[in-house]
Amino acid sequence: MIELKHKNCFITGAASGIGRSFAIALAKEGMNLFITDIDMENLKKTKSEIESLGVRVYANKCDVSSFEDLECSANEFYSKLGSLDLLINNAGIVISGTLLELELEDWKKVLDVNLWSIIHSIKVFLPRMLERKSGHIVNVASAAGIFGSTEPLPYITSKFAVVGISEALFGRLRSYGINVSVIVPSYVRTDIFSNLNLKYPKKLLDAFGKEKLEEIYKSILNEMSGKAMHPDRAVKKYISGIKKNQLYIFDTRVSLTLLALKGKPQEFEEFLINYHKNSNNVSREQFLKFGINVDDYDLYQ
Ligand SMILES: NC(=O)c1ccc[n+]([C@@H]2O[C@H](COP(=O)([O-])OP(=O)(O)OC[C@H]3O[C@@H](n4cnc5c(N)ncnc54)[C@H](O)[C@@H]3O)[C@@H](O)[C@H]2O)c1
Repeated sequence: MIELKHKNCFITGAASGIGRSFAIALAKEGMNLFITDIDMENLKKTKSEIESLGVRVYANKCDVSSFEDLECSANEFYSKLGSLDLLINNAGIVISGTLLELELEDWKKVLDVNLWSIIHSIKVFLPRMLERKSGHIVNVASAAGIFGSTEPLPYITSKFAVVGISEALFGRLRSYGINVSVIVPSYVRTDIFSNLNLKYPKKLLDAFGKEKLEEIYKSILNEMSGKAMHPDRAVKKYISGIKKNQLYIFDTRVSLTLLALKGKPQEFEEFLINYHKNSNNVSREQFLKFGINVDDYDLYQ
């Protein structure tokens, strides 16, 4: 797909962050939009911003972890806009915590929203895309989906699967006229940093209480978010990749370097070990600012 003007797009998670920036940028390119989210209050705000750009826009409540919700929204989409040119599976969540703190329900929730959403969406939309022999599927993964960074494991697991399903579909669907891309964001300044659903390490919780830990983690997240890219800037790069029909769409060259490193297995193993050590050092330094030495608590198991 090269020309976006007058084409139709369905997007999930458009109430905030990358999804919101995507919807507005695509409207500026002249696309008609069907935007969805569970957060209707903010979705309506995205809708009114788009309305002022003179394209057709519809907003629908849709929980991507529910197949029925996606099926309903898809039917609504086809009745309003007729045909699908661009499908952006963007909605995603993080539940943060170390392996010991996270419960099985946390794993399930993250996999439901980040991975099953994409399976639901493909199941719902693909048959009609195949009939038309056209369309572009874009799945939003993460740099956490191309290398096993430190935490949280359910997020990393879900995003590796998103990369896998995207690669597999890319090869299979090309001869049917359907393009597939996978976006690999690095650090983008969005609400994902404030909605981390943090599970605090029990040993720290017992020693310092929830209020103190909230203060410390807020400071760590603020620092991370301050270094992150603005979503409008990131989305500009993503749209450029979509127009070129790229399979992988990155927003930093570091991700390419990481992929290349996998061609040198021993170096990659060392990198994984050092990456883990370094990120522990970053947390260690942040905690030290609050007079806490995390080494006394053996948290990173
Ligand atoms: N921000 C980053 O640094 C970053 C990095 C890598 C990957 N990503 C990915 O980018 C995508 C967008 O995240 P973001 O950073 O814009 O975060 P965000 O929190 O700003 O936006 C996510 C949106 O998804 C919606 N959502 C959550 N659960 C949902 C559900 N069950 N059904 C429908 N909508 C739901 C939220 O209401 C929100 O509007 C996610 O898939 C995320 O994993 C983000």
